[in-house]
Amino acid sequence: MKAIVYTTYGSPDVLKLNDVEKPTLKDNEVLVKVHAASANPLNWHLMRAEPFLARLENGLLKPKNMKLGADVAGRVEGVGRNVTQFQAGDEVFGSMPLNELGTFAEYLCALEDALALKPARLTFEQAAAVPLAAFTALQGLRDKGQIQPGQKVLINGASGGVGTFAVQIAKSYGTEVTGVCSTRNLDLVRSIGADHVIDYTQEDFTRNGQHYDLIFDAVGNRSISDYQRALSPNGICSVAGFTSLSRLFQVMFLGGKKIGLMQTAKANKKDLVIIQELLEAGKVVPVIDRSYPLSEVPEAIRYLETGHARGKVVITVEHNNKT
Ligand SMILES: NC(=O)c1ccc[n+]([C@@H]2O[C@H](COP(=O)([O-])OP(=O)(O)OC[C@H]3O[C@@H](n4cnc5c(N)ncnc54)[C@H](OP(=O)(O)O)[C@@H]3O)[C@@H](O)[C@H]2O)c1
Repeated sequence: MKAIVYTTYGSPDVLKLNDVEKPTLKDNEVLVKVHAASANPLNWHLMRAEPFLARLENGLLKPKNMKLGADVAGRVEGVGRNVTQFQAGDEVFGSMPLNELGTFAEYLCALEDALALKPARLTFEQAAAVPLAAFTALQGLRDKGQIQPGQKVLINGASGGVGTFAVQIAKSYGTEVTGVCSTRNLDLVRSIGADHVIDYTQEDFTRNGQHYDLIFDAVGNRSISDYQRALSPNGICSVAGFTSLSRLFQVMFLGGKKIGLMQTAKANKKDLVIIQELLEAGKVVPVIDRSYPLSEVPEAIRYLETGHARGKVVITVEHNNKT
């Protein structure tokens, strides 16, 4: 089968579309014929081994797991003998754990708890756009952010892969949501449910006199004192990303109890089902910026690395009717 592999760390040029062994099914696994995957910043952090800590995850000198891609949507082609939740033909979506990435490929073996049935109203591309970004938004808002109905919530980076889910998930909790984005994305962020939008090229949300019960920062470009200024007295700031190591270390070590990094988002069945229900109810609708074929994953990652995607960047996998 075809898969994107990388044998050395570096720019998107290290990503090659190669012929590799089709994975063989274990008793507790599901074989998925991949129809779509999606790109996440995780992919380029691992690809470049940046920051350096990424090497602890996937090999000091060269990548141990040479495949990339966390999110997947596709059709079940076969199931191991211990699998109870799926059967051949089911349309599924899900996200692979960090040590088992490999959805930029024609086929994938996954544990059944990594998958759920794809909501029928979603295409494969839409479903593949969801898992990791939605896990990040849900876990960042709920676990670190302690989101509660009626709160005033601000999402920084509201137009990105994570931000577009964060706006919609925060709304599903019954909160009043303000989305921060650039001028060209104001309408998009309004259209996914934000009650208020702030154009960061015109206005600094930390200096406009407003206070928020919860700030979810999917950019990570602000200082601790910025967050403190914009939080209400008992407010919480949950930070998902970072734009420099100094921002990262500030939030990790100087934020106190209220301001801090969310834990790294974890794929898990319980949250996948929560997200599946939000999708089925139409409370969350994936925003897709661009789609690239499997052979163009390097271009997709290059685009994502600009830091200005609008919603998600999706990878489509054609099979040309071969099995
Ligand atoms: N903690 C975790 O487990 C976890 C999991 C997933 C992702 N992340 C991190 O979360 C961050 C966001 O991920 P993502 O997938 O959403 O990335 P993304 O899709 O690349 O985000 C791009 C978005 O960021 C916006 N943006 C850029 N500069 C901004 C600024 N100064 N103010 C407000 N918005 C700005 C862009 O809007 P404009 O084009 O309008 O500027 C664009 O829409 C990344 O740092 C990623 O590494 C963390």
